[in-house]
Amino acid sequence: MNHFLDIHKTDPAELRKIIDQASATKQARLGRPKAALDDELPLKDRMVALIFEKPSTRTRVSFDVGVRQMGGQTMVLSGKDMQLGHGETIADTARVLSRYVDMIMIRTFDETVLTEMAEYADVPVINGLTDRTHPCQIMADVLTYEEHRGPIKGKKVVWTGDGNNVCASFLHAAGQFGFDMTFTGPAQLDPEEEFMGFARSKGSTIQVERDPFKAVEGADLIVADTWVSMHDSQSSKERRHNMLRPYQVNDHLMSHAKDDALFMHCLPAHREEEVTSAVMDGPQSVIFDEAENRLHAQKAIMRWCLGA
Ligand code: CP
Repeated sequence: MNHFLDIHKTDPAELRKIIDQASATKQARLGRPKAALDDELPLKDRMVALIFEKPSTRTRVSFDVGVRQMGGQTMVLSGKDMQLGHGETIADTARVLSRYVDMIMIRTFDETVLTEMAEYADVPVINGLTDRTHPCQIMADVLTYEEHRGPIKGKKVVWTGDGNNVCASFLHAAGQFGFDMTFTGPAQLDPEEEFMGFARSKGSTIQVERDPFKAVEGADLIVADTWVSMHDSQSSKERRHNMLRPYQVNDHLMSHAKDDALFMHCLPAHREEEVTSAVMDGPQSVIFDEAENRLHAQKAIMRWCLGA
């Protein structure tokens, strides 16, 4: 049994196996109806709890569809409707759920909820996003990059804007998959040193460059994310927008990267804020492939967790 809690906590060889499995099962399903079962049914007779303490479109739907395609069943639970939201401990919740379900995916605020769930559960636990990281998203992003451009090892990724939880998992991936990353954004929103330090400790070149045009020189991939994340206060919105406006990804900024640079965004996006529609809908954008690949990457993660 494996938990999938974070990219830096998973062995690089295992991460590579997950990406390869995702790619193979995606290919095997090409052209099939969405609800058609896979050839193999590794989750047959398995029940998966999907717990959401924050809103979600992609994570919720892609996990639900993925479990069903692999022959399993899901139970989608809202944290606030469970006793979890009314004082029952995480440890007790983990022990109880382990008697009913074969795997738990949780999206929560504080990462200690995730780690405590994993500590006390007898079944695999998957991180569906915390305030600090979003590993499933970045596994889908690595898969997406490699589908379009081949191995990500040695490439230059530029993160624009807020050094948030998605950026943190990208930095973990830089270390584990062997690519370089440049962060460009205001100093107040730099990624935590811990995340950059991890990638550097694995040999990746991690840079911080305040000038977005200098940052994207030689970039193979440019990534943007929303300027106000789910865990940020709405009262900070105007201040954050003012700080982040120079880092908008638009055609002018894209033109300073490599000609074949890709653009990614984990979505949901705020069009004309962190990125223009011209870039989102343009030829370098792979945002909807990223969204689709959540499904394929997470199916492979679930199989890895269960050894199935
Ligand atoms: N990218 C992502 O995690 O999307 P949702 O918040 O809709 O799940």
